[in-house]
Amino acid sequence: MNNSREQWGTRLGFMLAAAGSAIGLGNIWRFPFVAGEGGGGAFVLIYLGFALLIGLPLMIGEIAVGRKGQANAMESYQAILPERPWYVTGFIGIVINFMVLCFYSVVAGWTLYYFVLALTGRLLTGEEARYGELFGQFISSPSAPVIWQALLMVIVILIVARGVKQGIERWNNILMPSLFVLLLVLTIRSLTLPGSGEGLAFFLKPDFSSVTPSVVLAALGQAFFSLSLATGVYVTYGSYCRANTHIPGNAGGIVFFDVLVAIIAGLIIFPAVFHFGIDPARGPDLVFVTFPAIFERMVLGGVFAVLFFFCIFLAALTSAISLLEVVVAYVRECWALHRLTATWLTGAAAFVVGLPCALSFGPLAGVTLLDRTAFDWFDFLAASVLMPFAGLLLALFLGWGWKPEQVKAEVEREGVRFPLFTLWRFLIRYVIPAALVIILLQSVGVI
Ligand code: PHE
Repeated sequence: MNNSREQWGTRLGFMLAAAGSAIGLGNIWRFPFVAGEGGGGAFVLIYLGFALLIGLPLMIGEIAVGRKGQANAMESYQAILPERPWYVTGFIGIVINFMVLCFYSVVAGWTLYYFVLALTGRLLTGEEARYGELFGQFISSPSAPVIWQALLMVIVILIVARGVKQGIERWNNILMPSLFVLLLVLTIRSLTLPGSGEGLAFFLKPDFSSVTPSVVLAALGQAFFSLSLATGVYVTYGSYCRANTHIPGNAGGIVFFDVLVAIIAGLIIFPAVFHFGIDPARGPDLVFVTFPAIFERMVLGGVFAVLFFFCIFLAALTSAISLLEVVVAYVRECWALHRLTATWLTGAAAFVVGLPCALSFGPLAGVTLLDRTAFDWFDFLAASVLMPFAGLLLALFLGWGWKPEQVKAEVEREGVRFPLFTLWRFLIRYVIPAALVIILLQSVGVI
C-alpha cells in the first residue's frame, strides 16, 4: 500500500468533506422543484426509500473500495481485482464527474452572481415583475454566465490545488458548519411566515395519486445525483481514510445529512412559495425568479436574500470541489503530474468543455439535438444514464466481483462492526441490480 498517500487530518474532516460533496445544488436548487413537479409528499417518500435502500448500501461499498484500493477512482478497482476489467466502473465515474462539473459550474456560477447581486443591493429592485426578465437576460447573455462560470472554477481550482488536508478538508471544515447555521436561520424565517401550514402540507402529506413511473424515475435520479453516488467521489475520498474509519457509520451520517438538507430546503421553500401564492411546480428557475420576489415582500428581505444565495453558493462550492478532486486524483496519479498542474489542467478543460452548457440559454439555445441543448445533454447523460449505469456496475462489482464477504472484511478491518450485513448482501446482489436495470431501460426509453 502506498504510504505517502495524502490522508484526512481528522475523522470529522472526511465526514464533512463527503457530506459537502453530497449536499449541493441537488438538494437546495434541484430537489424542491423536482419534488414540486412530482407532487410533493409522495415524491419525498419514494426518494427517501431510494436513499436508504439503494443509496446507503452502495455508498458503504464505494467507500470500502477506496479505502481498500488506496488509489484514485479507477485504479482502486484495479488494485482490488487486477486481472478483471472492473476498473471501467471507476473510469465511467471519472467521466461522470467531469461531465457534471461542466454544467454544475455553470449553475454554481449563477448562484455566485446572485449572491453578489444581493450583497451589493442590486437584486431587490422593488419591481417584482422584473425578476423573470433579470434572470432571463442574465442566463441568455453571451458573456455574463461564462464570466461567473470562470470565476467559480478559479475558486474551486485554488482550493483543490492546495491538497486534501490543506485545501479540501480545511475549506469544508469552515464552509459546512456555516451552511448549517444559514439553513437554520432560513428555516426559522420561512416556518414563521403566516400561512406556512399549507406549504408544509403539500410538502409532507403524501398523495400517491400523483405517482407515475416517471415520478419514480425522477426520485431515483434525484437520489443518485444528490448523494453523488457511483461517481467515484466516495472511492477517492475513501482512499484518504485511515483504516479505523467507521465506514457504515460515516455513510449513514452522510445519507442522513443529505436527506435532512433536502427536507430543510423543502421546509424553507414550500411555506414561502405557498405564503406568496406561487405555483410550486414552476421548474428550475424557482430559486432564481421566485425567491427574489419573496424576499422583496419580506421584512429584512435584503438580508435574507444575501443569506439565501450565499447558502446555495456554499453548498454548490463544496460539491464542485469533490467533482474536481475525483478527476484531479486520476489525472495526477495516472499521468504522473503535480497536483497543481493536474488541477489547473482539469479545471481549465472542464471550463472549456462546459462553455456550450453556459451558452445553452443564450447564443446556443437554438442549437439542439433531439430537442436537447448542450446543457440538457450533459445533465441527462451524466445524471440519468451514466450514474444509474455506474451504480449497476458498482453493485455487480460489490456483490459478484469483489464479493460481499471481502467488502465486510474491509469494513471490519479494525474491529468496526458491519450492522445488517445479511440485508446489505441481499440488497447489493439482487434488489439494487434489478431495480437499476428496470430504471435504466426506462430512462433510455426501452420500456
Ligand atoms: N451531490 C451533488 C449535489 O447534490 C452533486 C454531485 C454529483 C457532486 C455527483 C459530485 C458528484 O449537488
